[in-house]
Amino acid sequence: MQDLGTVGLIGVGTIATAMVEGLVGGDGGPSRVILSPRGARNAAELSARHERVEVAASNREVTPGADVVVLSMLPDQLHDAVHDLRLHDGQIVISVLAGVSLTELRDALDTDLPIVRTIPLPPVARRGAVTVMTPAPSVVTQLFDLLGGCLEVADEAQLSVFSAMTGCFTGLLEYVATLSRWAGSRGVSPVDAERFIRDAVAGLAPALRDRETSMDQLIRSHETPGGLNEQLRHEFFDQGTVGSLESALDHLLRRVTE
Ligand SMILES: NC(=O)c1ccc[n+]([C@@H]2O[C@H](COP(=O)([O-])OP(=O)(O)OC[C@H]3O[C@@H](n4cnc5c(N)ncnc54)[C@H](OP(=O)(O)O)[C@@H]3O)[C@@H](O)[C@H]2O)c1
Repeated sequence: MQDLGTVGLIGVGTIATAMVEGLVGGDGGPSRVILSPRGARNAAELSARHERVEVAASNREVTPGADVVVLSMLPDQLHDAVHDLRLHDGQIVISVLAGVSLTELRDALDTDLPIVRTIPLPPVARRGAVTVMTPAPSVVTQLFDLLGGCLEVADEAQLSVFSAMTGCFTGLLEYVATLSRWAGSRGVSPVDAERFIRDAVAGLAPALRDRETSMDQLIRSHETPGGLNEQLRHEFFDQGTVGSLESALDHLLRRVTE
């Protein structure tokens, strides 16, 4: 298995923790992971669990030995976190910050080093999510291949569309929650209703993961012509509903590109 060098992370919150779990939680990956001291609890837990993981004394001490430096703080924490970093030739920077452009990152870091913007999702912890990214050198694609795969897009404009799409997940869950609440309001036990619908929706996962089947085929294969699913899909997803979803997504797109 190929050694993917040393990865340093500045900011050890939710997504950084998921990435580190994925990178060192199985075969292969970086030989060493150096964490910033911020996100102290996560950093301590990760280093206690994984031999390859250590915690630096300061942000500044994360970078000298790292081949790849991951920026994984919140966007408004960027300047404070990177102001005294020392970067050197040969290093590559990965940013996971939503809505922070390459130009802003380059200015904050004051560097000409290659920077790759990425959108990792929490299932990278189990090496189970494809990561969208701007064009990336092979060491970066190898790291993310290990975490579930890479989806390189041509430019930041395309990355922003994917970034806006990441705002959809709790809305999908709210759809499921609404179904349970509706059933509860019609005299059914809410607990039973929720169990029924959660199991049924979770059961769609294998079909969703089958990339050979288009979404259109998937929809057709789950409904009978003239049946209940077709009726709800047509009645609910009318022009009004689809239009308001698209307009909400446009708002997200504006927000991540402003
Ligand atoms: N969560 C996701 O699913 C997800 C997915 C894709 C992208 N993202 C992006 O990932 C970034 C992090 O999100 P998150 O959900 O992981 O946030 P989070 O859990 O709040 O983590 C932010 C981390 O940054 C640390 N930090 C704050 N100031 C710092 C400084 N000056 N130096 C070093 N570290 C500092 C925080 O440490 P303290 O706890 O000590 O303050 C914390 O560990 C965001 O920019 C977000 O856009 C998140």
